[in-house]
Amino acid sequence: MARNTSNAGQKRNSPAPVQAGRDAGPPRTGTGVAHGKVILLGEHAAVYGAPTVAVPVPGLGCRARVVRSDRGGDRPSAFQLVQTPPGVPRGPVPAALHTTESLVPEGLRKLTEAMLRQVHRRGTSGVDVLVESGVPPARGLGASAACARAVALALNALLGLRLSADAVFHYVQVSEKAAHGRASGIDALATGSHRPVLLADGRISNPPVGADGWIVVADSGSGAATKEAVTMLREGFAKHPGSREVFLGHSAALTRAGLCDLERGHLAALGRRLTDCHGLLAGLKLTTDRTNRLVEAALQAGALGAKMSGGGLGGCVVALTATEITADALAAALAREPGVRCWTAPLTRGEGHAGI
Ligand code: MEV
Repeated sequence: MARNTSNAGQKRNSPAPVQAGRDAGPPRTGTGVAHGKVILLGEHAAVYGAPTVAVPVPGLGCRARVVRSDRGGDRPSAFQLVQTPPGVPRGPVPAALHTTESLVPEGLRKLTEAMLRQVHRRGTSGVDVLVESGVPPARGLGASAACARAVALALNALLGLRLSADAVFHYVQVSEKAAHGRASGIDALATGSHRPVLLADGRISNPPVGADGWIVVADSGSGAATKEAVTMLREGFAKHPGSREVFLGHSAALTRAGLCDLERGHLAALGRRLTDCHGLLAGLKLTTDRTNRLVEAALQAGALGAKMSGGGLGGCVVALTATEITADALAAALAREPGVRCWTAPLTRGEGHAGI
């Protein structure tokens, strides 16, 4: 059975309050990690419950460290979000925290407060939060969800909450909804999964993958907040009755067909779905000259298909190719475009799993 997400939070209540862990004295520090993601098919339609598929990008990582502080309270007493060069943050965690509470991103503040409130213990100490993110922000790569997931996992470890995967998802969504206004949950899920993730009608699963492939992610160098794109679409749909249903119908059909291609290992057919999806999103004015140009360049360089990915209005393009060698060649070709940075990630053959 596929597991329901709280798709988010509407069908599910907050996790039950729990007692803080008491084994061998409370730890002083908790750490958590997460990674970036790209949407293969179905972005924006996901917000309205239509199916969407995302692929993890493990080469773009995020880590959080939370430390008990003597300054009590249910808010981070110090907070620092460090944007590292794209990649996986490694090496010693910087010790100093010098940013004040007022600079905590709204979503992460809400998440931290909600988690601290779960600890039924009077006089719970406050926490200092340090997040280092190598996931470029505002590029449709799931940066906000990756940060939220890393913080939620770090707090889970520090506070001994022993949260289930569903409960962690719930807290990541607390942050995502503050950041994006409306969030389907796909970013919250894919930033913690090591396999492709399908979210459809609030249910999650790992879709079967019938052949190994590779994806190339190309950052156009500019981007907008997902919230802006989601709002733009919602307002556009409101002005043109029926347009939302038409979009959702096309997107769902493309995603379902793409899932069949993925399962059968028909990468060339899957690639064509990606390019068709780009056309669909371009019709909603979510693409830009730069992302359109990158899609063209990817196809000319031999990609099986390419499309914008995530919120759009800039951000990233995802292209599909068959092998690591062709992925590296494609990434090198796209990186010749001015201001473009590329990453690759494998699409690994494997059985599907309901729930992740
Ligand atoms: C963002 O990665 C994908 C969107 O569909 C928003 C969402 O699903 O929450 C644009």
